[in-house]
Amino acid sequence: MKISKNYDLTKLNTFGISVSAKFFIEVHSETDLKELFNLPEFKQNKKIFLGGGSNVLFTKNFDGLVVLNKLKGIKILKAGKGLVFIKAMGGEIWHNLVMFAVNHEYWGIENLSLIPGTVGAAPMQNIGAYGAELRNVLENVEAYEVATGVKRIFSKEECELGYRDSVFKNKLKNKYFILAVTLKLSKIEKKNISYKVLKEYLEKNKTEANNPKNISDAVAFIRQSKLPDPKIIGNAGSFFKNVFLARRSLGEGEVKKKLEKLLEKYPDMPYFKEDETIKIPAGWLIEQCGPANGTSWKGHRVGNVGVHEKQALVLVNYGGATGEELMELANKITTSVREKFGLELVPEVNIV
Ligand code: EPU
Repeated sequence: MKISKNYDLTKLNTFGISVSAKFFIEVHSETDLKELFNLPEFKQNKKIFLGGGSNVLFTKNFDGLVVLNKLKGIKILKAGKGLVFIKAMGGEIWHNLVMFAVNHEYWGIENLSLIPGTVGAAPMQNIGAYGAELRNVLENVEAYEVATGVKRIFSKEECELGYRDSVFKNKLKNKYFILAVTLKLSKIEKKNISYKVLKEYLEKNKTEANNPKNISDAVAFIRQSKLPDPKIIGNAGSFFKNVFLARRSLGEGEVKKKLEKLLEKYPDMPYFKEDETIKIPAGWLIEQCGPANGTSWKGHRVGNVGVHEKQALVLVNYGGATGEELMELANKITTSVREKFGLELVPEVNIV
């Protein structure tokens, strides 16, 4: 295994931010991983684990060790009458796993087509799109504890998956290296096409949702028409999370009151009842605010950074931007949304 010094990370983060890591190493196997845990550079430095780099914003050079997860492999563990368990290694490209499932006609992750990043990053933030989330299909996660080098299997419950959230983003942050993920998929039709834009697209195109491939193709088309391709323009998908009026923290009465107050002032505000909460699309909130009165952030550009013209949740690097420039824009957006709506935006990307 080779440790590189002052390694350029520009191509390893989809924002395309030009930063470097003091040390850098690639891990290709479990043997590599065990070796890694014993290296002095590993023991003596702070470290981060990187997959596709599609959910990270580097604001400065990383003064530690970056470990790139390159462990590959997808296999069917066991298949019963209606169910199938698939294990994928953390360094696999997430979309390749989706394609594997779709080609075998296994249901469960077709709505998650084309989400950038790796399999290992999927449970970190409980990836989700078009009405589906990883937690609907996750069986378990295999991970190595960094401090001890001991392997542990996390059941789905132990992963504490929430909206774009997990135990690995919170109390176990940077404490585990995700080795592999096992999913429980269905061999029997189990479609999930209730998400408005997906349903409308299928109806409009008279597409039968009778196999995962049709749904996957539809999702891919919708994504590509709305979200910028990081190969062309630097971005990390949604920069912010959607806003939830949570009953747990506010109490049911307060949620109702807050929503009513907002709707009184902004009758067109979209909102969705989800489980026990009310979701307000952050993209809409951002679109209603802007750098000056009567302007919108959506499509706004300042120097090398901007807000995507088709999806206000996505911040972009037009080329040559620094992480600080992006953070400055993000902070201005957050402040304007707070001032106008009294709601707090929270970044979805990991800021390093
Ligand atoms: N909206 C606007 N303006 C915008 C964007 C959205 O008004 O610029 C409003 C509209 O009311 C729209 C609603 O937001 O109907 C929902 O929009 P969309 O379907 O595009 O979804 P989203 O809530 O903005 C979330 C995920 C995306 C995922 C889509 C589709 C988060 C933070 N983002 O966005 O995930 O692709 O749903 O399921 O939850 C990502 O995580 O990187 C990501 C792209």
